[in-house]
Amino acid sequence: MVKKPTGKNTSGRGQRDLTVKVKTARGRKLSSTLWLQRQLNDPYVQRAQAEGYRGRAAYKIMEIDDKFRFLVPGARVVDLGCAPGGWMQVAVPRINALGEKRGKSVGRIIGVDLQEVEPLPGAEIHQLDFMEDDADEKVKDWLGGEADVVMSDMAAASSGHKQTDHLRIISLCETAAYFAFDVLSPGGTFVAKVLAGGAEGELQKLLKQKFDKVVNFKPPASRSDSSEKFVVATGYRG
Ligand SMILES: C[S@@+](CC[C@H](N)C(=O)[O-])C[C@H]1O[C@@H](n2cnc3c(N)ncnc32)[C@H](O)[C@@H]1O
Repeated sequence: MVKKPTGKNTSGRGQRDLTVKVKTARGRKLSSTLWLQRQLNDPYVQRAQAEGYRGRAAYKIMEIDDKFRFLVPGARVVDLGCAPGGWMQVAVPRINALGEKRGKSVGRIIGVDLQEVEPLPGAEIHQLDFMEDDADEKVKDWLGGEADVVMSDMAAASSGHKQTDHLRIISLCETAAYFAFDVLSPGGTFVAKVLAGGAEGELQKLLKQKFDKVVNFKPPASRSDSSEKFVVATGYRG
């Protein structure tokens, strides 16, 4: 069943601090126990459940867009690495993809992911490996024109090796950036997840040649102990 986010803010202020402790179970690794404990105590996980979002990642794009304001009615958006769909749940009402805001332009969002994604009203979803040779051509075909926003939250499964993970995410991000150079309309926005670790400097340099403004932003919803941040490039020069 497709659950619609309530949009209600249940940030939990004023609630009692009830920290859940997880016992180590036979057969479960300590790292899994710690992950479970962190999930159960994460206020954004609890908020996502209460407000009907498919994951805590929804709050990251909400906070990024609250600051940079690119998900506007009528925007044409490509969401790379869209599963399970939290970013799309935020984008659909903001771009007016369902035409619910009378008198405002109707937007469009195309989501792409390696994994199957539960359908979401207002979003066009395609299962695709964006690193395949002709993936960008396929997405361009589906788009059938220019995009105003290309956003990527793509991340490969962790290898457990920090530097390898960093290089992989930079490669995903660069592929997304070259795709954005092809499809963005002048003035367009590119948002992508990167991990701090050295190689992101080259990407920044590249983006600075093509966009008026390029900034790194770590939204409050991004865990402070994670090296994740988002590069936000606005004002595509075309
Ligand atoms: C952190 S999740 C995205 C969460 C999403 N933004 C949301 O709000 O639900 C990262 C996603 O990137 C996807 N991904 C990683 N590599 C990919 C690739 N080569 N092509 C398409 N998707 C990819 C993964 O399958 C995963 O679903």
